[in-house]
Amino acid sequence: MAKELDSLKQYLVDARERKYALGGFCFWNYAYGMSIAQVAQKLNLPMLYIIGDAEVKFFGGLKNAAAAARTVAENVDVPVILHADHFKDYDEICRAIDAGFKSVMIDASAYPLEENIERTAKVVEYAHKYGVSVEGELGRIAGSEQHLSLTEAEAMQTDPDEAAYFVEKTGVDILALSIGTVHGEYRFPPNINIPRLVKISEKVSIPLVMHGGSGTPEDKVAEAVEHGITKLNLATDLVKTVGKATAKVQQQPGFGYSVANLYAPAYVDLANYAEHKMRLLAKNIL
Ligand code: 13P
Repeated sequence: MAKELDSLKQYLVDARERKYALGGFCFWNYAYGMSIAQVAQKLNLPMLYIIGDAEVKFFGGLKNAAAAARTVAENVDVPVILHADHFKDYDEICRAIDAGFKSVMIDASAYPLEENIERTAKVVEYAHKYGVSVEGELGRIAGSEQHLSLTEAEAMQTDPDEAAYFVEKTGVDILALSIGTVHGEYRFPPNINIPRLVKISEKVSIPLVMHGGSGTPEDKVAEAVEHGITKLNLATDLVKTVGKATAKVQQQPGFGYSVANLYAPAYVDLANYAEHKMRLLAKNIL
């Protein structure tokens, strides 16, 4: 019988209590997913995948993505979580839950506070009926393509009092923050706002999430984990790892084209990358 996917909340609540975090690894196919799941199994950590719109399309839809994650779950002894990342549309979130997702993010952070609350609370009401965990976002996380001054960038960050109000009004399980990371590659060294995180974590007791994990300085990540960050989303680094490894292997003398020859080294590099990040994030319990 097919193994079900797991919900996320209970693992992140434990992570917040014991001051560690899980990597949220972007998911785009079974074989790659399996290479990372084997590392999770080795370290006895839950395997947490995140999947956004682009990867859902690449999979050919939500059902295919959920089926691939369930197949991973059948092949490892640790829980497997597939988390819908930055979903913006209520109906799409309902479809993800119908497809078997047990963890979703509603990103209504582009809307004014009260509208963000309304949209997030509506998802919470639906998702909780099915035991599905919900991540909301407050504050805006920039893309690296955005050209912002320091004042503009800080103005987008999460306000501690608003965060407490947002959590109370929405009943959300997990909260994504904006504290200085960006999605994609950094054009300048980031300024991670730990003092702001400390204020937020004093006022908000639910698990907190840091997006834009690729390239974020590891000392700052470790510090953030001490102050309530329980999930670090990782995408760009994974794609770069595959890109570099597949380019390199083709330059090797005698390289012969087969899918295994092309991708096997990339999967080894991905597993090494994942192990390094998982050990960093969970060092307090490993
Ligand atoms: P990176 O691409 O910067 O790792 O960010 C991933 C992310 O936050 C997805 O939500």
